[in-house]
Amino acid sequence: MSDTATTLTLTQPDDWHLHFRDGDLLAETVPATARCFARAIVMPNLVPPVTTAAAATEYRARIMQAVPEDKAFEPLMTLYLTGETTVADIQAAKAAGVVAAKLYPRGATTNSDAAVRQVESLFPVFEEMTRQNMLLLIHGEVTDAEIDIFDREKEFIDRHLQAIVRAMPELKVVFEHITTKDAVDFVVTATDKVAATITPQHLLMNRNDLLVGGVRPHNFCLPVLKRNLHQQALQKAVASGSKRFFLGTDSAPHARHMKESACGCAGCYSAWSAIELYAEVFERLGCLDNLEGFASHYGADFYGLPRNTNTITLVRESWQVPSKINLPSGDELVPFYAGETLNWKLQA
Ligand code: DOR
Ligand code: ZN
Repeated sequence: MSDTATTLTLTQPDDWHLHFRDGDLLAETVPATARCFARAIVMPNLVPPVTTAAAATEYRARIMQAVPEDKAFEPLMTLYLTGETTVADIQAAKAAGVVAAKLYPRGATTNSDAAVRQVESLFPVFEEMTRQNMLLLIHGEVTDAEIDIFDREKEFIDRHLQAIVRAMPELKVVFEHITTKDAVDFVVTATDKVAATITPQHLLMNRNDLLVGGVRPHNFCLPVLKRNLHQQALQKAVASGSKRFFLGTDSAPHARHMKESACGCAGCYSAWSAIELYAEVFERLGCLDNLEGFASHYGADFYGLPRNTNTITLVRESWQVPSKINLPSGDELVPFYAGETLNWKLQA
C-alpha cells in the first residue's frame, strides 16, 4: 500500500493470546475483543484456574453470554497445566473442543501459584497433547529467586524450552508474548512446529518506558519490558514477514488500584485499541503490508484452523486512547497507551 493510503482492509484478525477474566468483567472484556477479532485464545489463569474440560466448557458458555448480539465471535479455550494434570485430562479436554494447554512455571505471573513446579514431569502429558494435536502454549520464564528478572526468558529457553522441543519434535509449541532477541533467535532457528506471539507493548516500548522519569505501573507486564535492542529484535521479526510470529495481545485487565499500588499487578489492557496499536507499529516500521499476515493469517495457519473470510477496515484517523474505563463495579481500568494518540482506527 502507498504511504498516503487512507484505508487499510484486512482479513478479520484473531487474537492468539488474551485474558478475559470472569464474572462481571466479561461484560467489559468480551465486547472489547469481539469489536475487532473473530476468535481469541482465552487464557485459563482464573481463580481457581481452568484445569478440567468441564471448567473450560462452563467458562466458554459464560464468555458466549457476553458476546454482543451483532458480533460473531468464537472463544478458543485452553487448559491450565498443573503438576497433577493427567493424560486423561488432556483426552477429555480435546473431546470438549479445547485447542491448547498453557504451561505457566509456578509463580511466574498473575494466578500462577497452582502451576507447574517441574516442567519435565509433564512430558507424558505433552506426548498425549502431540497425539491429540493440541498445542502447548508456554509462558517462558524461570521463576528462581536468584535469576534476574530481565534474564528469566533466556534462562527458560536454555533450561527448559530447548529440552521440550528436542523431546517433543512433533508437538506444536507457541512461545507466548516473547520479549527478547534470544527468543526471536530461538524461534527462527527452531523447526516449523515452533512459533511465537508478540504483544503491542513489547513492540512499542522498552524498559525505559517503564522506569525513566518515574515508575509507570500501566506499562508493567510479564515478561517485563526489556532493553531497546530486544525491542528492536521483535520489531525486526515482525517486519521480516516471518510466518512464525503472530498477533497475541496478552490484553490483561487489572483495576487501577491494583496497578497503582506499592506492589502493582502485571498486565496491560489493550483490547479496545489492539489492532490500532499494531497498525501504528507496523506503519512506523514501514511494513504495513505485513500486518495482515501477522494479524490474520499466520496464527490460524499455525493452529491448523481456517483463515477468516470476512474483512475489517482501518481508516487513517487520529484519536486518543481514553484515559480510563469505568466498570459497573465502580472500579476503573486504565487502558494500555491511555491518553496517547493513534493514527489508525477500526471502522465501525
Ligand atoms: O502481564 C501479564 N499479565 N503477564 C501474564 O503472563 C499474565 C497477565 C495477567 O493475567 O494479568
Ligand atoms: Zn497472558
